[in-house]
Amino acid sequence: MIEIVNMDNEHIKDLTELEKECFHTPWTEKQLEEELKNEYSLFLVALNDKTVAGYVGCQITIDGGYITNVAVFPNMRGKGIAQKLLFELNNRIKEQRLQFITLEVRVSNIPAINLYKKMNYKEVGLRKNFYRNPKEDAILMTYYI
Ligand SMILES: CC(C)(COP(=O)(O)OP(=O)(O)OC[C@H]1O[C@@H](n2cnc3c(N)ncnc32)[C@H](O)[C@@H]1OP(=O)(O)O)[C@@H](O)C(=O)NCCC(=O)NCCS
Repeated sequence: MIEIVNMDNEHIKDLTELEKECFHTPWTEKQLEEELKNEYSLFLVALNDKTVAGYVGCQITIDGGYITNVAVFPNMRGKGIAQKLLFELNNRIKEQRLQFITLEVRVSNIPAINLYKKMNYKEVGLRKNFYRNPKEDAILMTYYI
């Protein structure tokens, strides 16, 4: 059973591994720990029978949310876990009466682009050479609440 919970200390080690598996420039254990102390951070973890399966990280700004991290372990993909994380994030953002959620995604990351489109995010812009390692443009996407 998939359960969505707030990120806590006990999840940090697994999330550090998840970052390493997914990204060329992964967030470190220290960076993730810092988010636990940040009152403007909203990080949610998906647990599959108490085991970390994925997570979403978001910064709360004055009028919206800005997603910084989304990842699911390879062996847990294709089961709707990212959708569940984004759905719960929407609920939390709505509770705070914010207007939108925004994010960047690599132009080549078709699974993620499809995920965001399915969750009703709209393409609102292109950021040239936004990413390093490898260099790539970012699509800017926004979900209007
Ligand atoms: C992108 C990612 C988070 C999706 O997680 P997931 O739990 O497998 O996604 P879901 O099962 O919730 O899929 C939801 C929708 O996303 C899209 N999608 C997911 N995986 C896909 C794939 N491999 N190819 C195409 N579309 C895909 C589909 O539209 C899917 O809906 P469907 O199952 O009805 O077709 C996951 O692939 C991942 O961790 N990738 C590496 C990290 C990453 O790129 N993060 C995003 C950074 S912006």
